[in-house]
Amino acid sequence: MTQDELKVMVGQAALAHVVAGSVVGVGTGSTVNCFIDALATMRGQIAGAVSSSEASTARLRAHGITVLESHLVERIPVYIDGADEIDPHGHMIKGGGAALTREKIVADLADRFVCIADESKRVVTLGRFPLPVEVIPMAAAQIARRFEALGGRPVLRAGVVTDNGCHIIDVHGLSIADPAAMECDINQWPGVVTVGIFARNKASVCLFGTPRGVETVRYDASS
Ligand code: A5P
Repeated sequence: MTQDELKVMVGQAALAHVVAGSVVGVGTGSTVNCFIDALATMRGQIAGAVSSSEASTARLRAHGITVLESHLVERIPVYIDGADEIDPHGHMIKGGGAALTREKIVADLADRFVCIADESKRVVTLGRFPLPVEVIPMAAAQIARRFEALGGRPVLRAGVVTDNGCHIIDVHGLSIADPAAMECDINQWPGVVTVGIFARNKASVCLFGTPRGVETVRYDASS
C-alpha cells in the first residue's frame, strides 16, 4: 500500500471515534484531509467542527460541514489530528504544516486526542523530525541562539507566515528524552508562541495505518 492509501485508511477509521451529536475537533495536514473527506459522510450526524487552521476550515466548509469559532465551544469530546512523530507514550512532534499553535488550542478543548498516522511516524525517541517552533518574528534570532546552545541546528522556515502572523523555526538534531520537561522549558522562552512538542496534550490513542490494517494503540494518561 502507498503512504496515501494508509492515510485514507486511518482517516476513515477515525470516524468510529466521532461522537454523534457533538462538535468534533479537527487538526491539519494531509492525513487529516483524508479524515475531513470521510467526515463529510457524517455531516448530518455532528453538531459541527472546530478547526485548527484556515486550510482545514476551507476543506470542512467545502464539504458543507459547519465550522464553529473555538471561543464559542467550551469542551469537545474528541480532537482528531495527525503527527510528524509519535513515541511509545503518545508524546508527539507536530507542526510540519505550521498549524501547531491552533492545534494545541483545539486539542486543549478536547477530552481525548485521537492521533491518525501512517506507521512511519512511530519513533522510540522524538527528535528525528526537525522540531517546529512558532515564534514572534522579533525574537527569532535569540530563540535560534538558545537552540544552538542546546546542541540543535535551527533553520527559519523560508517564506512561511503562520495563520497567526508568526514565523516557524525548525530545529534539527535534537534528541528529546524528556518531552514534557522540554515542552515546559521552551514554552517559557520570551517570543516562543508554541513549541511543537505535544506532551501535555498527548495522544489518548493512535490509529496507525499499516499494510496489515489499522493498528490501534492506547496510551496511559499518566506516563
Ligand atoms: C500540522 O501543523 C501538523 O501538526 C500535522 O498534523 C503533521 O505535520 C502531520 O501532517 P501529515 O498528516 O501531512 O503528515
